[in-house]
Amino acid sequence: MTTVTQDAPLSERAPAVVSPIPLCVPEIRGNEWAYIKECLDTNWVSSVGEYVDRFERALATASGTRCAVATSSGTSALHTALIVAGVEADDEVLVSTLTFIAPVNAIRYVGAWPVFIDAEPDYWQMDTARLAQFLEHSCERRGSALYDRATNRRVRALLPVHVMGHPVDMAPLLELARRYDLIVIEDATESLGARYRGTPVGHMGDVACFSFNGNKLITTGGGGMLVTDRDDWARRAKYLTTQAKDDPVEFEHGAVGYNYRLTNIQAAMGVAQMEQLDDYLAAKRRIAERYAAALADVPGLTVMRQAPWAQSAWWLYTVLVDAVQFGMDARALMRRLGAQQIQTRPLWQPIHQSKPYRDTTPALGCPVSERLHAQALSLPCSVGLHAEQQTRVIDAIVAAREEVGEREHGKTPGR
Ligand SMILES: Cc1ncc(COP(=O)(O)O)c(C=O)c1O
Repeated sequence: MTTVTQDAPLSERAPAVVSPIPLCVPEIRGNEWAYIKECLDTNWVSSVGEYVDRFERALATASGTRCAVATSSGTSALHTALIVAGVEADDEVLVSTLTFIAPVNAIRYVGAWPVFIDAEPDYWQMDTARLAQFLEHSCERRGSALYDRATNRRVRALLPVHVMGHPVDMAPLLELARRYDLIVIEDATESLGARYRGTPVGHMGDVACFSFNGNKLITTGGGGMLVTDRDDWARRAKYLTTQAKDDPVEFEHGAVGYNYRLTNIQAAMGVAQMEQLDDYLAAKRRIAERYAAALADVPGLTVMRQAPWAQSAWWLYTVLVDAVQFGMDARALMRRLGAQQIQTRPLWQPIHQSKPYRDTTPALGCPVSERLHAQALSLPCSVGLHAEQQTRVIDAIVAAREEVGEREHGKTPGR
């Protein structure tokens, strides 16, 4: 690096070094090194071992379920969950459209079809009123099964995704599942530690899935978990994710299985991370509270909210940017913050609009998700985000709005 002395002319001075602030990165400060080293020292590096068992127990405890099965990713957990739940080719599964694409792809892996349900405008989760409307008006019972009148397909399951750390309003959803005899598969990948009316996410449906990829609250580098109270489903999940071995010595297999195993090394990291879950959740809550306090009154910004019935995990802190009132849209703000080394990101393109699913009709149109996609911007919110870094983010956003405001009122002529 060039050092520039105080008396160097301005033109020769190096620009001040501004350190980048990433969106959401892992926090590794506990027993990760020690536990992984133990795996290496003892040669227990592969897909069985004490840490796999411990990690499964930790997740069962955190989600309040009887069983947990570790998997290679959240996506493989979802795929396995759909299989053990009995979702078959040509069935329909009602799923949030405002989500990362993985749960929808998993529906296609089993040959079933997604029917997209819009988000509600307050907490940005699957809209259970729209779900009810679809089930009531677009479906009919034939014998003991429910059919989508438009497609003639059997409606088999609901797949709510608790996005951005906040739970879906599960009581009406579970009531619909009971009334129409549908299976509930929770995608809780983004919301470990969140609660719905006191119950942990992952313990309300028949089966639920978590992810431990690099940007999740708890990470194993890559990994996932399926949790359920149904011992038979858990046993089947373990069997299918470990190549459906009937006889491990003779290599006899009883079904088409998968290599969806998590390694002991990854699980060791997961166990160390889980030891810090409460601290991480507290850090996320502090970050969210500070953003809310600092940004709530900025014209044109809507801050993320927590429903009265929810305890959010605040996984990805997100604001909505109203282009007219704020004076620039979410993408312009993203570019401006990016130029200041502050990483932000829009939410996912609603899946009913994404290329592989464009031709799949959304249940009732999804205008809310489309608006949220246009306006949402996720802000830096790593567990290890320093107060000064957060101040920089807040100041940069406030400055962007003030500058636009000043321009509008002609206070800064010539700019
Ligand atoms: C909502 C949602 N579902 C599923 C996944 C898939 O998890 P993984 O990346 O571990 O396969 C993710 C995250 O990546 C996600 O955000």
